[in-house]
Amino acid sequence: MKRLILALDVYEKETALKVAGKTAEYLWALKINWPLILGSGLGIIGELKKETGLPVIADLKLADIPNTNRLIAGKVFNAGADYIITHGFTGRDSVKAVMELGDVIMVTEMSHPGAREFIQPITDRLVELANELEPFGIIAPATRPERVAYIRRRLNGDIKILTPGVGAQGGSARRVLEAGADYIIVGRSIYTSENPTESAKRFHEEIKG
Ligand code: XMP
Repeated sequence: MKRLILALDVYEKETALKVAGKTAEYLWALKINWPLILGSGLGIIGELKKETGLPVIADLKLADIPNTNRLIAGKVFNAGADYIITHGFTGRDSVKAVMELGDVIMVTEMSHPGAREFIQPITDRLVELANELEPFGIIAPATRPERVAYIRRRLNGDIKILTPGVGAQGGSARRVLEAGADYIIVGRSIYTSENPTESAKRFHEEIKG
């Protein structure tokens, strides 16, 4: 089973398409973020799908009022995105506005050190919100496997856990999988590697089901 998601945080379309093409056989999905959307335009979603046949996750971390979330999500789903990453702290109405248009992955805790300041104290409530709304998945930090295990114990078993923070941010793919993650997100450790195919293969071998 494929559990690896490539985070394509580059500006240029050519680089994104090249790295995606070289690694696709080891991936479950591609994740794009603002750098690639701002650098290459929304059309990159369709181009990546055409090049690889893989699902595309738009990591927009939407955090606005329901109407604005809806306006943004509408454009992005129409461009071909299969999932949109949305913040939960803005409240259930904002998350629901995106869920009405397509599949959502909700942030419950982030991977960087600053996540301890404001997000971690409300993780329990964000997990409760996820259990109520039942999005496709949630985001939890690969940099803290013990937090992934904590979230897994509280989260409805049908909701997937996606974990960024492996590699460049220090997280171990194997450990976070053992803690209960379903999918591992890796960016720099693959796309800045001398040999992205080999790097993706190594992560895939480490975590394949
Ligand atoms: P690297 O290069 O660190 O890239 O492997 C990680 C990717 O994942 C995103 N990221 C996060 N997204 N919650 C999220 O929703 C997080 O806690 C988080 N941490 C990293 C990051 O933007 C990059 O695309």
